[in-house]
Amino acid sequence: MKQFRFAIAGTGAIAAQFAKGLAAIPEEATLYAAASRTPGKAAQFSAQFISEFPDLKTYDSYEELAEDPDVDAVYVANLNTQHKEAVLLFLKAGKPVLCEKPFALNQSQAEEMVATARSRGVFLMEAMWTRFLPVTSRVREWVEKGQIGTLLTANASFGIPLMTSSDRRTVALEKGGGALLDLGIYPISYFSHFFHEAPEQMLSFVTKAHTGVDAAFDVLFRYRDANGNLAPYLRTAKATVAMDRTLPETVELVGDKGFIRVSSFWMADRATRYQFGDDGVSASAVEEYSPEFLSTGYQYEALHLIHCVREGRTESPIMPLDETVELMGTLDALRREWKIVYPDERNG
Ligand SMILES: NC(=O)c1ccc[n+]([C@@H]2O[C@H](COP(=O)([O-])OP(=O)(O)OC[C@H]3O[C@@H](n4cnc5c(N)ncnc54)[C@H](OP(=O)(O)O)[C@@H]3O)[C@@H](O)[C@H]2O)c1
Repeated sequence: MKQFRFAIAGTGAIAAQFAKGLAAIPEEATLYAAASRTPGKAAQFSAQFISEFPDLKTYDSYEELAEDPDVDAVYVANLNTQHKEAVLLFLKAGKPVLCEKPFALNQSQAEEMVATARSRGVFLMEAMWTRFLPVTSRVREWVEKGQIGTLLTANASFGIPLMTSSDRRTVALEKGGGALLDLGIYPISYFSHFFHEAPEQMLSFVTKAHTGVDAAFDVLFRYRDANGNLAPYLRTAKATVAMDRTLPETVELVGDKGFIRVSSFWMADRATRYQFGDDGVSASAVEEYSPEFLSTGYQYEALHLIHCVREGRTESPIMPLDETVELMGTLDALRREWKIVYPDERNG
């Protein structure tokens, strides 16, 4: 089958990782074009990939890229504050879009993006790459087969020091920075993927950086059970997230028959399944999955998009658009509690 031609809009740090991922699947895909709004930056980006993608086209505007009829899909990798505008541009040009996380600055932007994709029948997906990694697929299989019984509790911890320089986008309020949108989306999306619903209740604690963005937070979510009840037992998930320090990058999914521990869960490299003993006290590891981590890992979301687009789908069954919008609503609710408003939101 013909190579699928991806294009990139926004040639920053993550775009380079995505390009490396594409280079690992040459039979399925190629990086056909890259566009930056900063003149000359797309050409610099292309020079890094001269051996992998010697024919890479470059554009100094997203508008020119949107008009290129040979683009099969666009990966949007600019700032959180810029996703909506770029996504709308490409959707209106009829291009399938993979949009970096967080999908938008807030839920109302996400709704507009999704409504545009749906009204035009064009594929759109949040680039929550974790869901497409082989380890996450195996965890999904274990949970769906009931191998930990009924999921009752999840615990996540995720901390990467991202405040080393004050001009970083992660610290800048005007660039949609903060631990929640940069890191917190990962455990919150993970919980949503496995609990299959938005939390019914939440309790959180936050500390802020000098710029006003959230630097670290703890959140506890409570979910309803399969019958829509909050009782008889607690279904909860707790995340500790920080961009002002290092924390273990782990997730545990705990059921009534056992639990699963995933290390480096957001770029998942190993999952171990434990079973509770008949004595009601012991637990033993019964299965471990740690496949070789190939390339940067971003190729798996690209492969999923190709599969969906070729099947004629307009959204992903693994990262559905309604869930993306719902997740943005959860992030909004947390920011409301913390009184964090981005300048773009004040300007309407
Ligand atoms: N999936 C993941 O693992 C992962 C990891 C990191 C980040 N991300 C997400 O990917 C997106 C980009 O993150 P990144 O770390 O790659 O960002 P970055 O390198 O700082 O910038 C990416 C692009 O954003 C635009 N940009 C940056 N600073 C700007 C400024 N001051 N004014 C105007 N435009 C500016 C530029 O687009 P042009 O090239 O068009 O000028 C730049 O190439 C974010 O949404 C982030 O949350 C995802």
